[in-house]
Amino acid sequence: MTTINENYLKLKAGYLFPEIARRVKNFSEANPNTNIIKLGIGDVTEPLPEACRTAMIKAVEDMGDRATFQGYGPEQGYGWLREKIAANDFQARNCDIDASEIFVSDGAKCDTGNILDIFSRDNKIAVTDPVYPVYVDTNVMAGHTGKANDKGEYDGLVYLPISAENNFIADIPSQKVDLIYLCFPNNPTGATATKDYLKIWVDYAKARGSIIFFDAAYEAFITDDSLPHSIYEIEGAKDCAIEFRSFSKNAGFTGTRCAFTVVPKTLTAKVSDESDIELWKLWSRRQCTKFNGVSYIVQRGAEAVYSDTGKAQVKKLVSFYLENAQIICNQLKRAKFKVYGGVNSPYIWLKTPYNLSSWDFFDKLLQTAHVVGTPGSGFGAAGEGYFRISAFNSRKNIEEAMKRITTQFSM
Ligand code: MLT
Repeated sequence: MTTINENYLKLKAGYLFPEIARRVKNFSEANPNTNIIKLGIGDVTEPLPEACRTAMIKAVEDMGDRATFQGYGPEQGYGWLREKIAANDFQARNCDIDASEIFVSDGAKCDTGNILDIFSRDNKIAVTDPVYPVYVDTNVMAGHTGKANDKGEYDGLVYLPISAENNFIADIPSQKVDLIYLCFPNNPTGATATKDYLKIWVDYAKARGSIIFFDAAYEAFITDDSLPHSIYEIEGAKDCAIEFRSFSKNAGFTGTRCAFTVVPKTLTAKVSDESDIELWKLWSRRQCTKFNGVSYIVQRGAEAVYSDTGKAQVKKLVSFYLENAQIICNQLKRAKFKVYGGVNSPYIWLKTPYNLSSWDFFDKLLQTAHVVGTPGSGFGAAGEGYFRISAFNSRKNIEEAMKRITTQFSM
């Protein structure tokens, strides 16, 4: 008899974004002539930078010539891309990260889940609440949790609540945790972390032999020069942190797929005999067995992000979405919404009006303004009463959506 991984049965309902898509589909089937504006999932809308497209077209031509054709690439990514990443994203910011510590992949979402392959089930895991749901669900799937309670909190996980009261910045837990997920600029709240704040976590992790999973998928949206883009800007982080990055939100690669994970060579964890093992070796072994690398064409496109023209085009793209975020914040504040984030971040986090629950506000917004956002409770129990709006859309749609929301909900 074939049996299943019963951890999947512990998962609460569907994954957040398919559930939103299901409700939107039902609404649009019942109201076929309605123009729905989607500011829910953080999916980009603007075209790929011209520098990336040109590089990908050239790479397609390379594939058509025996002399330049590429078969299987290195599972860790091509050396020329890893070198550019190390130089531009890290060494240029005084982070001592070498190309050999960078592992190119098809997504930060996949990597934050897949990384669990190299860790034991015995680790105590901490997540913020609210949190990007992938961190929680992948731990449930891997059998690292018990069952969920009525609020959707899983037994065995340590939840670190974030709210307006603590500026959406989690306090250090009183107990020892082994793996800690941090995401800055934060999804979903749009909060940012200062160097001093990250230093507290690095010191905590180093003192206790813990490891921080640092998700920096939105670092390109940081415009405040005092804020760190990478956790490796903090002294000691190379000994206690793995960082996840993506080309999805800066260069618009959500449909093209390219990201990378940094596993420093100095980062170790314990074997049951108390010896230490280098994690980059395990991650490399995992990738070589379960992954065949990102396509040559896509990696050439990602490489172009680091050319002078690529950098300028990416900057323009990010600025465009940040201007959208500013318009959203300004309009919502004018309508007396309580608004957070949206600066150094493409996400705006707001308190639902009239004390509506997150999903009630979602339904009301869809039905009356025909605008889709993301219910805060979908990111965790402490997200109840909040709502996320994404700035990833055309200017026309952002302006129209704000007009509709403020008309329907001015307080
Ligand atoms: C989100 O909306 O939270 C993001 O699109 C999720 C992701 O990048 O996977």
